[in-house]
Order: sequence, then structure tokens, then C-alpha cells
Amino acid sequence: MSISTSSRNWWEQAVVYQIYPRSFADSDGDGVGDLRGVVSRLDHLSRLGVDAIWLSPIFESPMADFGYDISDHCRVDPLFGGDDDARLLIEEAHRRGIRVLFDLVLGHTSDRHRWFQASRQDRTNPYRDFYVWRDGPTPGRADGGPPNNWEAGFPAGARAWTFDDLSGQWYLHSHLPQQPDLNWENPIVADEQERVLRFWLDAGIDGVRLDSINRLGKDPLLRDNAPGLPLRQQDWPNLHERLVRVRSVLDKYPGTLAVGEVWLFDQQLLVPYLSDDELHLAHNFVFARADADATGLAAILSEFGDLVPDPGRAAWFVSNHDEPRPRSRFDRDGYGLQRAELIAMLLASLRGTTFLYQGEELGLADTPIPPDRVVDLNGRDPQRTPMPWRAPSVSGPGAGFTTGRPWLPITPDAEAMNVESQRTDARSTLNLYRRLIGIRRDRLRAVTGRHLADVPVEGVLRVVNQVPAGRYETLLNFGVEGAVVPIPDGARLLIGTDRDRRDVGPGRVELGGLEGVMVEHRYSEVHER
Ligand code: GLC
Repeated sequence: MSISTSSRNWWEQAVVYQIYPRSFADSDGDGVGDLRGVVSRLDHLSRLGVDAIWLSPIFESPMADFGYDISDHCRVDPLFGGDDDARLLIEEAHRRGIRVLFDLVLGHTSDRHRWFQASRQDRTNPYRDFYVWRDGPTPGRADGGPPNNWEAGFPAGARAWTFDDLSGQWYLHSHLPQQPDLNWENPIVADEQERVLRFWLDAGIDGVRLDSINRLGKDPLLRDNAPGLPLRQQDWPNLHERLVRVRSVLDKYPGTLAVGEVWLFDQQLLVPYLSDDELHLAHNFVFARADADATGLAAILSEFGDLVPDPGRAAWFVSNHDEPRPRSRFDRDGYGLQRAELIAMLLASLRGTTFLYQGEELGLADTPIPPDRVVDLNGRDPQRTPMPWRAPSVSGPGAGFTTGRPWLPITPDAEAMNVESQRTDARSTLNLYRRLIGIRRDRLRAVTGRHLADVPVEGVLRVVNQVPAGRYETLLNFGVEGAVVPIPDGARLLIGTDRDRRDVGPGRVELGGLEGVMVEHRYSEVHER
């Protein structure tokens, strides 16, 4: 297979699979996943039917934030392999028709990056202005406190400034102190980061996920945040000219994609990021954090459609390496897996691009982490534990992920919840995902216009997709009681979450509690593909 070009951008209606490389597959037995491991498991992704992979950062890093603290953007961290392994991965993925997105962190570096090391030497160093250095109220000393009241993301509520004894000033960090923010007011910073972007685009990647991109613009006057006003340390208008510049680089590499992590919780705020000359896609955290509830979801989907008229600009997801796994998040009453499968069906039906996080296709739950194994300060270990590939009774305690001691514990469910066991079980969550992705690829790729989302019967979310010859309806009963939903006469079942369901209708479908179906209705007889 090779990568084809069509008039529609390849990512529209595509499924992108997020790999957290530390936890995907370990080829050398050191307990941490690596690029050769990813290559060895690409066939799983081909079978699943995904169009692209996004890899969390693989670049040289002291790993204070597990790769999101980069000390050299243009080198692969030896933990993940060599630069040749990155090339091999791109080649092997392309050979299978799978595109590759890398995760670029443009807004901050590691404190071990040579720029920061130089920057902190003294106030006149040429790299000083690569970062945001300021005096507090008592210049040269820490005791007067930091320059303003901004808070860092991690640990939540900590101050966003650290005093550096060496040069006697405070530096800004939106995340950990080991992740100093770059100073995007300095045009040389933009030049340098453009070079990084080109470096990887030249290596053949198909696009980028841009980390924490809403932090690329901040109030240049560094004024205090004030109660009741939006934070001044993010989403500042000056970031848009920066995104235009990033986009202009991508535009020189036709067919490449920029999806931004726009960590904002109001869909309206996403709109400016999706201007035609900025991001192609912006991850939608309002949708990602929504409850498994028909009315709430319908409102979110409709609002997005009203705000962003081009349906191809949506980026839907429910989990990633920072968010709890859906099965656990929706498990208040023991029905987490049923809700996670409804959400899987919803993702398959939506216009735009959908993103899956490794393990979601197995219906994995978060893994409890004993206190002595906690490594992330911010509580994200449970969703980052290794992929279980094979049953431990067959492959040993590493569950096919590693032959060594895994850096985070393997899920206690690995005996049943692993790729190999689910592959051969027709009723597994993995096979449901595989079929849903197949339907999205073979039938729903052709849909036109935006999808319509409503609640025809209490508790039931309906998503309608039009194709020239008919329509598809996805009906998801988020209620725990049964529900009877009208459907067009002649509609037929495409797929259901109840593995025993054989048909629907005529004219209605009786859904069990937490059951979902996709039905197809053709306006006139057309030939089967
Ligand atoms: C993003 C990443 C997260 C990381 C943070 C700082 O939110 O997804 O994992 O910790 O940025 O780079």
C-alpha cells in the first residue's frame, strides 16, 4: 500500500492513533518502550486500520516530564533508539500506508538544553533572551517573591517562576521548573524552532502535534492574573502571528498536518486557532472531558458545528497520555466498558479527524500505581502503563511489552486484556474497534456536510451523516434503561455494540441500556461496493 492523494485532505475522516513510546513496545529489554518496538508492532496498527500515528516526544530529554522536556530537538533520545530508528519507523509506517506525526514542543525546553544552560550563565549571554528572565520586587534576590502571580501547570498551583542563584533572576516556566518557557517575543527563538520543524519535515514526517500551543502567546507585559479575567499567561493574541509562521512552513510541505493541543475549555476559544492560515486541527478538550450523556454531547457537537462551519476541521478524542482512560472515567457504576464502547462508536461516526490513544482499542482501564512506583508528579501514571500484548501466563510478567522490568506496572487485567487474546475473540473490544474503523474508512469517508447531532428519545444521542445516496444514523443509548428509537423504514443494521444483535426495525430499534447501533438507509438501490 502507498499513500494516495485525493482532493480531500488525508486527515479528514481519518483515524490517528497516539503512541506513547515509553509504554508501547520495548525491543531491548530495558523496561522502556522504544522505536524498534514501535516498528515491531506496526502490523497491529495496520490490522486495526488506522491512517496515521502520533508519537509523543522521542527527542533527547532528561525525562523530568518523560520527553516533554527536550534537551535536543533534532536528536532521538538513546532510550528510544538512534536517529536511524526514527528513519526506519517513518519508512516502515509509510510502507504500510500509515502516516507519521511527531510531537513538537515549541514553547519550552528542558533546563538541560544548551540554550538554557548558556542563558543562565549571566545576563549578557547571547542566549539570555531565549527565555523569560525577570527581577522580582527585590532585584537580585528571591526573598521579595516572583515577578508576578502566574501559576504553573505542574504541580497544579505551584508558582510559574523559579529563582536562579547563578544569574540572580527568576525564569518563567508554564510547567515544571525543569521546563523553562522559551521567549517567543525574541524573533531568533522563532527562527530556531522553525529550523526544528523543517528538520523533521525534511526527514519525512507527515505532520506535527503541537504541544501546549495555547501557551505560545502570553501577555508581554507579564501582568498579574486577575480574578474573573482570562489568564494572561496563555491564549494571548500575539500567538496567532506565531502560528501563521508555523503554518507557512508546513505549507511548503504539501499534505502535512498541524494539530494543536489547545488546552482550553470553551469551544469558542478554539475558533481563532482554526483560521485558514493557522492550525489545521485543534484537539477539542470540551468534548474530551464531557460526560457520557446524550444531551450534553449533542449540545457540544452542535455548538462546534455552528462555530466551525468546515466539518473537516474537528479533532475529536477522549483520552491521551494526560487524561484518565474512558473505561475508568465512565465507571461510576461498573458500566465503564459499555460507555467506552458507545464513545468508540460515536468517534467513528463524527465528521473530522478522530484520535485514539494506545490501549483504548482494548478497553483498558487505568492501572492502580502502588506508592513506591509513582513516577509522575501530576498523577498521570495510571493511563501511561505499558501496552499488554500477550497474556502473562504465555509470555511472562512483561505481557509481551518487555522481557525486563517495566518502568510502570503492567495492568492487572493483562491476562484477558491483551492484544493477542482479543484479536482471536470475535466479541472483543479490539474487534469492535477494528470493525468501526473499517466502517468509517469504507463508508463514512464519503459523507458530506456536517453531521447532525440530536436527542430523539431521552438518553439517546443520534448522529446523522449524509452521503449522496442515503444516510447513516448512529444511535447511542447512554441511559441504563432500554429505549425505543424511530429509524427510517428500510434502514439496516451496520454494526452494534451488542454482539448478539442481528437486525433492527422496521421503522424502529429497541435499544438495550447502554447499547449503540449504526444503521444505514439508502434512498434508492445502489450497487454494493
Ligand atoms: C502537554 C503534554 C503533557 C506535558 C505538557 C508539558 O500538555 O501533553 O504531557 O506534560 O504539555 O509539555
